[in-house]
Amino acid sequence: MGSKWNLLEITRMMLVVGQLLLISSSLSSSQAVSSNCQETCGVVAVPYPFGIGDGCYLNKNFSIHCNVTAASTPKPYLRNSNIEVLNISLDGELRIYTHIGVDCYNESGIQQQSGTWASATLSAFPFSKTKNKLTAIGCDTVAVIAGSKGQGFASGCLSVCTGMDDVTDGACDGIGCCQTTIPEMLLNYNASVVSLKNHTKVWSFNPCSYVFLAEDKSFNFRRENLHGMKKKVVPSVLDWAVWETCVEAQKDPTSFACKAHSECFDFANVPGYRCNCSSGYKGNPYLGCVDIDECNDLENPCDGICHNTEGSYTCSCPKDYHGDGKKGGDGPGCIANPKSSHLVIILVGIGVGIIVLSFSAGFLYLGLKKRKLIRLKEQYFKQNGGLLLQQQLHERDRTTNATKIFSAEELEKATEHFDESKIVGRGGYGTVYKGILPNSTIVAIKKSKLVDESQIEQFINEVIVLSQINHRNVVKLLGCCLETEVPLLVYEFVNNGTLFDHIHNPNKSSKMSWETRLRIASETAEVLSYLHSSTSIPIIHRDIKSMNILLDANYTARVSDFGASRLVPLDQSELSTMVQGTLGYLDPEYLRTSQLTEKSDVYSFGVVLIELLTGKKALSFDRREEERSLAMYFLLALKENRLFQIVEELIAREDNEQVKRAADLAKRCLKLKGEERPTMKEVAIELDGIRTMANHPWVNLDLNPEETVHLLGKMTDSIVSASSSNTTNTGYADSMKNHAMPSVSSGR
Ligand SMILES: *[C@@H]1O[C@H](CO)[C@@H](O)[C@H](O)[C@H]1NC(C)=O
Ligand SMILES: *[C@@H]1O[C@H](CO)[C@@H](O)[C@H](O)[C@H]1NC(C)=O
Ligand SMILES: *[C@@H]1O[C@H](CO)[C@@H](O)[C@H](O)[C@H]1NC(C)=O
Ligand SMILES: *[C@@H]1O[C@H](CO)[C@@H](O)[C@H](O)[C@H]1NC(C)=O
Ligand SMILES: *[C@@H]1O[C@H](CO)[C@@H](O)[C@H](O)[C@H]1NC(C)=O
Ligand SMILES: *[C@@H]1O[C@H](CO)[C@@H](O)[C@H](O)[C@H]1NC(C)=O
Ligand SMILES: *[C@@H]1O[C@H](CO)[C@@H](O)[C@H](O)[C@H]1NC(C)=O
Repeated sequence: MGSKWNLLEITRMMLVVGQLLLISSSLSSSQAVSSNCQETCGVVAVPYPFGIGDGCYLNKNFSIHCNVTAASTPKPYLRNSNIEVLNISLDGELRIYTHIGVDCYNESGIQQQSGTWASATLSAFPFSKTKNKLTAIGCDTVAVIAGSKGQGFASGCLSVCTGMDDVTDGACDGIGCCQTTIPEMLLNYNASVVSLKNHTKVWSFNPCSYVFLAEDKSFNFRRENLHGMKKKVVPSVLDWAVWETCVEAQKDPTSFACKAHSECFDFANVPGYRCNCSSGYKGNPYLGCVDIDECNDLENPCDGICHNTEGSYTCSCPKDYHGDGKKGGDGPGCIANPKSSHLVIILVGIGVGIIVLSFSAGFLYLGLKKRKLIRLKEQYFKQNGGLLLQQQLHERDRTTNATKIFSAEELEKATEHFDESKIVGRGGYGTVYKGILPNSTIVAIKKSKLVDESQIEQFINEVIVLSQINHRNVVKLLGCCLETEVPLLVYEFVNNGTLFDHIHNPNKSSKMSWETRLRIASETAEVLSYLHSSTSIPIIHRDIKSMNILLDANYTARVSDFGASRLVPLDQSELSTMVQGTLGYLDPEYLRTSQLTEKSDVYSFGVVLIELLTGKKALSFDRREEERSLAMYFLLALKENRLFQIVEELIAREDNEQVKRAADLAKRCLKLKGEERPTMKEVAIELDGIRTMANHPWVNLDLNPEETVHLLGKMTDSIVSASSSNTTNTGYADSMKNHAMPSVSSGR
């Protein structure tokens, strides 16, 4: 065992030596940074690779412009921008000042000037996802941020309160202050605040709303912030790194930025690498690190005599003393030598003792390690709500298909240890991997990001909700795994991406015919209708959006993501909850009253329906302010009789009557008052009616008579509700045939 270890160590040493040689050769060949370079600008230190003026920076991305004016101290700015730099640290952080967006009203609810927004456009280094948060302050405040990280990104938060008494210092939790996270790689953003009631109800203590993207640590919410913010700018953190990966960069020693006695590491959050001084060295790794003289720099680490060496130090004991010479630690330090005969016995004794000890320690260690692993798994299982879930699932086992509890090994094998290449999606909730089980079933494995209490609840919620549902248009939950640090959910794999992608990706949207779109709408409506009325306890999905509708190879819709869904006890028709959902799809009535009803899903579905009709995004900052929400945009167009100008080109050529009826249905789903909206069941029936207006060959398929009878029984109540909307009897009869379709086709 010992010799094997030595061999390994020696190979590693050789590698290190090789690397050092490479690094020192690169140092001698690269041009040294001129000593004439200015190292500070005003009070801000500008360390290399950053620099002021040609030849002083590593490359253009690191160029700093120092604005010297007679009136005040010089101030540093990022290259070609008006973004002021606050400080630069060699650990890869750069702080800049960003502006605060403001929206103010006077006592009669009239907006004062026009609101300002907070925005920034960066060229090289993105905002740090971990260090920054979007924060909004106000008691009648909706903050939205839109930006770009390659694709578009939009998010926001909502803050309300009725009086100063509700507000707590330091708590930015939706009462007077709200926060939300930003995505990785965010290079530019535009954030603004709007108000729901023009601050009329809260004007006496809060006339303005504020929004800013700032370093989380730098801001601590105070109640007096509601009266007004004096600051105009806040610090934000950027992650900087040298472009390329370590491996790529090392190929060209002349441009490699890590100099003598430093190590290169790829930075996880931003594509690029950074350098660190090797252990035992200090300084600026981008210029070359120097040896730390431990014997003089720090407190002398030796009990005896200290010798500094390159990159390290050694300790020894003076004559007539023995020991390792080190101060503190487990070692003996320096001990005066006893008489020699005793010494031999003691040394032999120590030697034998050490051998016996190390053997038993080895065995003990292996045993303990195994026990520890098992304990860890059990702990995770408990922490992840395993016991609660097991009990819940056990109760339901008899009625539904058992949801399997997978072991951690099974899922690791299925995903090749959660390899990057197996990632099929990322979102706010976590990461989705594609996996292959031993029986060669392809599955999707959802790994949530971090587990705090609220997420565990959402997670268990999703498992419980999904184990209630058995519908061919709902993504099936196969099981879960609770033995890992974060819980894992296992779903069947739906292979054709999200509806969002198919609508908004120009290459794909042209392939989605009107007929397909209508079918997808109809399938989604049936799922919702089923959730609302057919399951044993009604379920409200709460987050219907095109992003959460997956498509399989035949473009069949599969509704997913039940993390936010709520089971509604039968004796309650509405629930009071924290408002949750996605801007653009969120029911305004729910937003206002916090009363969750099934009609909130109807509203969200209405938005998806017009997304299908128009091919436009639910929330877009490219449109005029009053038309940013797709619902408003659509309703305005309908009012002005411009329906056929806004529908997708491909649909404009379709059957006018079908499109008109679909648009009319969407309009009814988007009614401001929940009670004026149709139920999901009525929507599903209407959509079936619209679909069968065109001639479909399969409408005439023979139905299994038993099934028809069964369906008739089940549908009786829907005749009653259907007759209250404009649905004709023909439409209803046709829709019945459609209902039977699933069983016919699933019989394949
Ligand atoms: C330098 O600062 C002055 C005063 O703040 C400003 O007017 C000027 O535009 C700045 N120049 C540049 C190049 O940023
Ligand atoms: C940079 O600024 C932050 C926030 O003002 C401060 O906490 C930090 O100490 C500063 N770092 C340096 C190196 O000046
Ligand atoms: C609010 O502002 C409007 C327009 O600026 C003005 O007409 C109105 O008198 C103001 N109301 C109050 C109470 O100051
Ligand atoms: C500057 O940064 C951007 C983005 O990080 C990168 O694409 C570009 O190659 C960098 N420029 C240089 C000269 O390294
Ligand atoms: C930010 O949005 C506002 C509208 O709210 C727009 O007028 C402004 O031009 C945008 N700013 C940037 C930098 O895109
Ligand atoms: C808010 O102000 C705008 C114009 O400034 C006005 O159109 C709107 O009706 C006002 N809303 C309320 C709730 O007072
Ligand atoms: C780089 O060095 C800093 C400070 O010594 C340390 O905190 C950090 O963990 C190091 N990073 C890596 C990747 O070694």
